[in-house]
Amino acid sequence: MTHAASTHAASTHAASLATPEDEIRMACRGVNVDYWGDLAIKNVTMDILSKKVTAFIGPSGCGKSTFLRALNRMNDTIDGCEVTGEITLDGNDIYARDMDTVFLRQWVGMVFQKPNPFPKSIYENVAYGPRIHGLFRTKSELDDIVEQSLIGAGLWDEVKDRLRNPGTGLSGGQQQRLCIARAIAVNPEVILMDEPASALDPIATRKIEELIHKLAENYTIVIVTHSMAQAQRVADKTAFFYAAGLTEDDDSNLIEFGDTAQVFNNPIDERTRQYVEGAFG
Ligand SMILES: Nc1ncnc2c1ncn2[C@@H]1O[C@H](COP(=O)(O)OP(=O)(O)O)[C@@H](O)[C@H]1O
Ligand SMILES: [Mg+2]
Repeated sequence: MTHAASTHAASTHAASLATPEDEIRMACRGVNVDYWGDLAIKNVTMDILSKKVTAFIGPSGCGKSTFLRALNRMNDTIDGCEVTGEITLDGNDIYARDMDTVFLRQWVGMVFQKPNPFPKSIYENVAYGPRIHGLFRTKSELDDIVEQSLIGAGLWDEVKDRLRNPGTGLSGGQQQRLCIARAIAVNPEVILMDEPASALDPIATRKIEELIHKLAENYTIVIVTHSMAQAQRVADKTAFFYAAGLTEDDDSNLIEFGDTAQVFNNPIDERTRQYVEGAFG
């Protein structure tokens, strides 16, 4: 990790959008991510604001998942993947040598495209993180964390009478909410979601979207979505990434970042306009 951040000149479109009343939870400065030397993310600078929903959009392969994984160092686990630039969480360099990635992933949790409950009971799925991190003293405190997390994920009423049943026996939408309960059980600051509803039917999708709104009261949310409608329904801020046909003139593959309404209704860049109008996907 290099530390060129403070001197890095932000590109015009990707400049910091924070106003004084907006608290910056994560600050990304001049971030590059490559796989075996091939750049997937080029020079991305953005602020992720506290208790807001930020959506990453853009054509397939433009680096949305790659950049999302850089935010909690999930990229560390991928062969050939290297991150440079600076990313901070509440001012702390998450790529610092002494950063404990187990703690980092407690603070910056992740929900994946395909619901991936552990092959354990509903209760144990949610209790797993608090056990690892020692977040309770008594069984009743753990019961409480499990209940509050399932309430927070909008799943409690559906599962309260079958907490000992396997998590894998739930419907897809319920499994995804279980994964969200598992993420919030460890008290994260930020929750990263990579196309969390793309494997779900429209009703389950709507439930997840409503849940994202509620979660943003307490957490900072970053969501990758390929659905323009979903980005507009859930996100305060939208970042448009692009990869194909990047030219020397493009100093970053973050093409545009701003308030969701601006990005969709009044985009600055022609490529953003074409993408949000559905000209390419
Ligand atoms: N594990 C990997 N190894 C090598 N290249 C990868 C890996 N994951 C992603 N890439 C490449 O990085 C680029 C961005 O991929 P990705 O972040 O998955 O895009 P998106 O999520 O926007 O579809 C693509 O060119 C992809 O082929
Ligand atoms: Mg992806």
